[in-house]
Amino acid sequence: MTDISKINGDFSGKDILSLDQFEQSDLQLLFQAVPEYKNLADANKPSTILAGHVVTELFYEPSSRTFGSFFSAISRLGGTVLPIQNPETVSSVAKGETLEDTIKTFASYSSAIVMRSKETGSAKRAALAVDVPIVNAGDGTGEHPTQALLDIYTIFEKFGKTSDVKGVMVGDLRNGRTVHSLLKALSLFPNNHMYLLSPQSLQLPKELLQELSKKDMMLTQITSEKEIPQDAHFWYWTRVQKERFADLEEYERTKHAFILTPKLLKERGNKNLILMHPLPRVGEIEETVDEDPRAYYFKQMRNGLYLRMALFAKILGKK
Ligand code: CP
Repeated sequence: MTDISKINGDFSGKDILSLDQFEQSDLQLLFQAVPEYKNLADANKPSTILAGHVVTELFYEPSSRTFGSFFSAISRLGGTVLPIQNPETVSSVAKGETLEDTIKTFASYSSAIVMRSKETGSAKRAALAVDVPIVNAGDGTGEHPTQALLDIYTIFEKFGKTSDVKGVMVGDLRNGRTVHSLLKALSLFPNNHMYLLSPQSLQLPKELLQELSKKDMMLTQITSEKEIPQDAHFWYWTRVQKERFADLEEYERTKHAFILTPKLLKERGNKNLILMHPLPRVGEIEETVDEDPRAYYFKQMRNGLYLRMALFAKILGKK
C-alpha cells in the first residue's frame, strides 16, 4: 500500500504529493541537508547515493526547470533517468492507455516516478496505483510541492528564518500551483504575513483561503501596487497562466495587470528585499530588473537543483 501520509521525519520511500504531508520539522530536516548537496553540485563531485536506481520522469505538460533539475539531480547522485516528455505522443498514452496503466508500466522499470500532469489530483491517483514513490512535479492548478520546498529554502537561506516573514504574492493566484504550495509551506511557521495581489478574477481559490485562515498566518488581499508594504522580505511574482484559460480574451485582459519594473522597485522596495519568481516569466518582470542585486529568481532556480538532490537522497538513498 502506497504511503501518502505525513512525512513524519522520514522521507524514505515516501510519495511527495502535497505540502499537507509536511510539518515544520520536515522542512527543517531538508534545510539542514541542502548545503551538503550544494557543495557536491557546485564542485561537480561524483556521488553514488542513487547508484542502481532508475527514476522515470513522466511529464504530461512542458517544463524546463523542474524536468531539467530533477534530471540533473538524479544524475549527479549516480542514478539514471528514464525521460518521458509528452507521453501523449511518445508513449502508449497515444493509443489510449490510462494514467493508472501508464504509471504501473513505468513503476515496473524504475524506483520512483516524477510526474507532471494537467489535472489536479493526478499525482495522488498515480500514488494510489503503485508502490514506488510518486513525486508531484505539478498537477494542474493543484500543487507543485518541490517548487515550494525550493522557494521556502531560498527564503530561509537569505533571511535565516521562515517565521515572522512578510511577503507579497502577485499574479495568477487562482491557477498558480506554486503559490498554493508555498502558502501552505509558509503557514507551517508562526507570524508570517502574506499580501496577495492579483486581478479580481485570479484571486486565490476560496477553499484554500479558508484552509489557510485557520493557520497562524495573516493574509491580506490588496488590489494595487501602491498597497505593497515597503518592509516586505520578498516579492513572489508569477505568470498569468495562459494554458488554464477557457476564455483567451480574459487572459489578454489580465496577463500584464502587474509588471515588476525598476520604477516599482524604487517606489515600494527596500534594500534587503528579494525578488522571487518560479519562472518562466512572460513579460511580468522587465528584464532590466535582472541587473538589480535583489533579483533572486535565477539563484532560486539553481537552489532547485540542490533541494531536489537532497530530497531524492532522502527518498531513495540508504538511511
Ligand atoms: N518553475 C517551474 O515549474 O518551471 P518549469 O515549468 O519550467 O518546470
